[in-house]
Amino acid sequence: MTSPALYSELPSDRQLIDNQLCTMLKQSASDGGPVAEAMRYAVLGSGQRIRPLLAIRTGRLMGGGLKRCANLRAGASVELLHCASLIVDDLPCMDNEQVRRDRPTVHVRFGEATAILAAFGLVALAARSLTEIDGTGAERASYIEFQTHLLKVLDVGGLITGQSLDLALCGSERERSRALMTELKTVPLFVLSIRAGLLLSGFSAREEEALLAFGRRFGIAYQMADDLLDGEQCDAEPVVAQLESARCCLRQFGSRSHGLEELVDYLHDRTCQDNRSHR
Ligand code: IPE
Ligand code: MG
Repeated sequence: MTSPALYSELPSDRQLIDNQLCTMLKQSASDGGPVAEAMRYAVLGSGQRIRPLLAIRTGRLMGGGLKRCANLRAGASVELLHCASLIVDDLPCMDNEQVRRDRPTVHVRFGEATAILAAFGLVALAARSLTEIDGTGAERASYIEFQTHLLKVLDVGGLITGQSLDLALCGSERERSRALMTELKTVPLFVLSIRAGLLLSGFSAREEEALLAFGRRFGIAYQMADDLLDGEQCDAEPVVAQLESARCCLRQFGSRSHGLEELVDYLHDRTCQDNRSHR
């Protein structure tokens, strides 16, 4: 097990991701108006960046400079979508959260109307993240395929239904539907993160299948860990078991999957340390 001090590449990878997010935000959020400011505020806080980390570390399994550019950009677009979903989740008509990432939520800081517009702005930016980069015909076809997956995640069959169930259910009914809500709300963004890493990377169909299965299992573990740290669950054992099941999907890659395994270790340590103060 890697100790937190040994997560040597996490800070530099996060920096890489933050630089990419800044560049992308400049495309649509640079007019200095309140919506642009709210978009930047929503994205450039202290998020863990787990989704783009999954993307770039999946891409690195195969190496390749130019591809990594696409992996990074696509991974950052998943983060933009995630940040938009957090704005919406936190609204008074949804979870009515006042604090996120250790500071006031977007609607508390900027007002509800600006928060809603900022969420739309982030979705639009994510949806066109790969449309402006050059590539061969085959590369551009891969970008369009990725963007289609990105839009499907947002579809009424995905995040929107998950959020709507989350709002509608309570008590034991909610408890029974916890796994379904995770499948609808959390897992799709994790699987999309892996797809971002698969872009132009030349994996075999068998390798892609294993990595997508990893993303799904890791996403479930991530939500279980979040519920544990929020006090909604009290047993760490199922999270650890779920993480080990995710790790199994990486076996065929041997030491090449070191970067992804480090993210499994990171979540394992967070789960077992119950370090709420660091969240
Ligand atoms: C919060 O996601 C919502 C969940 C699916 C658990 P994160 O815990 O990744 O939030 P940030 O991006 O680090 O703030
Ligand atoms: Mg949370």
